[in-house]
Amino acid sequence: MYFSAIVDPILTTTSAKPFLKWAGGKQQLLTKLDACLPTNFDRYFEPFVGGGALFFHLWTIKRLPSQVFLFDINDELINAYCTVRDNPEALANLLAIHQETHSNEHYYAIRDLDRQNRTLTDIEMAARTIYLNKTCYNGLFRVNSKRQFNVPMGSYKDPKILKRDALGTASSALQGVYIQVKDFRDMVALGQSGDFFYFDPPYDPVSKTASFTGYTANSFRDEDQQDLARIFRELSEKGCLCMLSNSHTPLILELYRDFRIEVVDARRSVNSNKDRRGTVREVVILNY
Ligand SMILES: C[S@@+](CC[C@H](N)C(=O)[O-])C[C@H]1O[C@@H](n2cnc3c(N)ncnc32)[C@H](O)[C@@H]1O
Repeated sequence: MYFSAIVDPILTTTSAKPFLKWAGGKQQLLTKLDACLPTNFDRYFEPFVGGGALFFHLWTIKRLPSQVFLFDINDELINAYCTVRDNPEALANLLAIHQETHSNEHYYAIRDLDRQNRTLTDIEMAARTIYLNKTCYNGLFRVNSKRQFNVPMGSYKDPKILKRDALGTASSALQGVYIQVKDFRDMVALGQSGDFFYFDPPYDPVSKTASFTGYTANSFRDEDQQDLARIFRELSEKGCLCMLSNSHTPLILELYRDFRIEVVDARRSVNSNKDRRGTVREVVILNY
């Protein structure tokens, strides 16, 4: 299944974008987030990096400082980031093979590798993560309690699994960036006065049925939102600049009532309130 192939050299462009589709991706809110950025900051931290829309935007507009830290609890995601940073050519090689071989059978054969006792290299694993992300239903990342990926195949006519130039640009953006699996609770030990943190956690669900927090085997609960508000306060006391996205719910408004809260309308595909179908109310919380 994994052969080496002769590939075109990777080119880069000047505009970087997420190389994964990620639930809660911030691509469409970038203008609003951009308007909320602090004027000056020392180091940049993204503790819930996901697709990394704001990170890639900051690289594109040349607002990244020399020290950048990207974290997430999802180890498959972090492995994909490290591989894009360190081995883009080898990764593109494997994605080209997935692109050629893509079919219903291939999808389930690759998906089910985590049900077998097969050890994949980090590069093979990253290619699998990206391949499944581009071809599964809605680009979801969902694993069962045994950490087996269980999203069915999506119905795309001609999914673009390898975008060679975009991958090359993402790799350029990630050069020199510190990337690691970490829980957001570890941030207080890292933050120093003048650092900028952008928090984009799994959102507090607007209603029980709207709830989707299945990014990892564990879901994000009210206690996690409370811990996060505590971390936000502790970093504020240390002199860090903090920006946080979340949904406009009573819990979030209460947890951050001492901070500046900007209300933004975001386009989302599902909304149970028929008058507001297509848009949901979200908040951007700032300590500056
Ligand atoms: C809303 S997504 C981030 C979306 C991202 N900003 C984008 O533009 O695509 C939330 C992320 O939080 C991560 N996450 C969940 N629990 C976490 C925890 N305890 N610590 C760190 N990251 C966590 C998930 O793996 C997921 O990638």
